[in-house]
Amino acid sequence: MARKPIVAGNWKMNLQRDEARDLVTSLVPLVKDVPNVQILVCPVFTALDAALDGARGSQIEVGAQNLHAAEKDGKLVHAGAYTGEVSAPMLADAGATWVILGHSERRQYFGETDAKVSTKVRAAFEAGIRPIVCVGETLEERDGGRTLDVLATQVKGCLANATPQQARECVIAYEPVWAIGTGRVATTAQAQEAHAFIRKQLAALFDTGVSDAVRIQYGGSMNATNAAELLAQPDVDGGLIGGASLKADSFAAIIRAASQSV
Ligand code: PGA
Repeated sequence: MARKPIVAGNWKMNLQRDEARDLVTSLVPLVKDVPNVQILVCPVFTALDAALDGARGSQIEVGAQNLHAAEKDGKLVHAGAYTGEVSAPMLADAGATWVILGHSERRQYFGETDAKVSTKVRAAFEAGIRPIVCVGETLEERDGGRTLDVLATQVKGCLANATPQQARECVIAYEPVWAIGTGRVATTAQAQEAHAFIRKQLAALFDTGVSDAVRIQYGGSMNATNAAELLAQPDVDGGLIGGASLKADSFAAIIRAASQSV
């Protein structure tokens, strides 16, 4: 089944508003004629509108990097006394159509758990926002032979609240933690093995209609040089790009590689 590749820039805690607008403005002409790739950039909350401004009239979509999902008596709370937090409807109001959830940096520094991610997935869908759900093993887990167990637990836990229709609309990002920001990229065989395994989990949790449809991105030191061979793997449907998304040229090169991979 042909899945449309999706390439997302995870800008992390980088770029002021003017820089965000300028980066998207530079990207627009570079990718204007690139067919068959869904493109998004994910700035910090305060630069969402600047990125949207730069993207206006183009095919580039804008997503956030997190949201807060509070729950009371089983119901989601979209506003209230949560100082410093931003809810899913607030992101939608700001123009975000996507949100990155469960990134390993959030798991590591902010104590994000699979259960928390599953609540956030629910909140995103309630607000009409599509999630990119991040999973991936640490180096210790890989060296201990636990990669596939970790991935199975994370996929199941993060999608625990999702209906089959919602699961189909999720994007999963496989990001081996040891490859993020390290310059150490997974081999094509490691990436393909993990992606195929995640797809198998989706079939077991939902059905093959879902597992065939879900796009699974690779993330972790993907760049203009290594993107093509990773994207050529049958179960690699795009990339979640950190460092290389902060420059229009390198991000555009990855987007072109994704376009040529179909
Ligand atoms: P990187 O980050 O491309 O800089 O390794 C990827 C990510 O954290 O999503």
